[in-house]
Amino acid sequence: MAEKISFEAPRGMRDFYPEDMVWRNKVFDAFRAAGEAAGFEPYDSCVVESYELLARKAGEEVGEQIYHFFDKSDRHIALRAEMTPTLARMVAQRQKELQFPLKWTTIAQCFRYERMTKGRKREHYQWNVDIIGEDSILAEVEVIGAACDALRRMGLSSGDFKVHVSSRRFLGELLSGSGISADKHAQVFLALDKRGKMPDEEISAMLRDGGLSDADVKATFDIMNLKSYDGCGELRELFRLAEIAGFSDCLEFDISVIRGLSYYTGIVFECFDTVGEFRAIFGGGRYDNLLTTIGGEPTSAVGLGFGDVVVTELLKSRLGEGAAKAKRGVAVGFMFPEQRDAALALASRLRGEGEAVMLSLKAQKPKKFFSRAESSAAAKAVFLGPDDVEKGVARMKDMETRGEIEICLSAAK
Ligand code: HAM
Repeated sequence: MAEKISFEAPRGMRDFYPEDMVWRNKVFDAFRAAGEAAGFEPYDSCVVESYELLARKAGEEVGEQIYHFFDKSDRHIALRAEMTPTLARMVAQRQKELQFPLKWTTIAQCFRYERMTKGRKREHYQWNVDIIGEDSILAEVEVIGAACDALRRMGLSSGDFKVHVSSRRFLGELLSGSGISADKHAQVFLALDKRGKMPDEEISAMLRDGGLSDADVKATFDIMNLKSYDGCGELRELFRLAEIAGFSDCLEFDISVIRGLSYYTGIVFECFDTVGEFRAIFGGGRYDNLLTTIGGEPTSAVGLGFGDVVVTELLKSRLGEGAAKAKRGVAVGFMFPEQRDAALALASRLRGEGEAVMLSLKAQKPKKFFSRAESSAAAKAVFLGPDDVEKGVARMKDMETRGEIEICLSAAK
């Protein structure tokens, strides 16, 4: 007997069945609405990029996770792991024509060959909001504010999540103040970003490899205990502006937020659920030098990436598995083939009036029709039997209240 063939999606890649799409749409709708409300313009690009643009600095985890291959003309091609290098390329390409500051947004499918853990897949969608060409902290406020707004639109509140903020510039000043020279800071940032993900002894070893003495390592760990941002002007300004914008209750100073990407230069932030159950919901920061590293003019930039995976897990846990299923539209069914035409005519009329109609494709017993309508997304249901078509009047049932109203079929011509 021939062996049965069975295919599965490649490990870490996702299929979206209709019940998954309900969640994805809920999350994407909130991304789009929050982006639009804050005045971000949509843009897009292809998931395939040149490897050279995406290749990362040594030590950055994302660099080792890039899916890459050679095309038939031997071009070194990669699937994007994040949107930021592509955004920088697109801006640099039109830097002379674009009007700055610009506020752009996209929902980008990204690929990373990750070690699979809760909240981490090898493919995810990442909502990006970025402001290019603005030095002031108002840019950070607009970007973080938009992300908090998206979380609120999804049904979460400041009790469910906190945006942990810090500043690489501030941390750099503290390190310099402890005698650790600026040329060592990039390595220190990369090592400190691993805190919580690997034992402190391994981080100490990474710091020593980066040229730090034992005393420097101790000083670095001491800095990580800092609880106040009073010494940092840009963080004070961020909290002050967030108060005016109405989301300071979502912010929390956290010196341990470093970020694993080396292009960040100033304020950095990462959002977590307050219970500490999930991985980062979103992360971002200021990256004022990225454009110059890819051949553009010096330009300030702030942005964030907000993945769909963690937030969907969080929403399911906080709001319940069924929370994304909004009841809408009308289910229309019929008892015998003789009522099929009348059912189609009614469905077409209701669609013309703007209703979403799920028309049954086969004659059914009423019990079967109503039980299927019950478990579907339909808010209302109409079932046509011989008598209804003869009288030209049917009943439309509200699936929630169970109330019925009469509707005239003759208008369905
Ligand atoms: P990132 O921290 O690498 O930053 O990713 C941002 C967010 O994308 C994470 O907080 C998480 O929600 C989601 N994410 C990342 N990797 C995965 C994965 N393997 N599976 C599921 N979700 C994932 C960046 O990518 C920066 N480019 C963000 C940015 C935009 N900075 C400035 N502008």
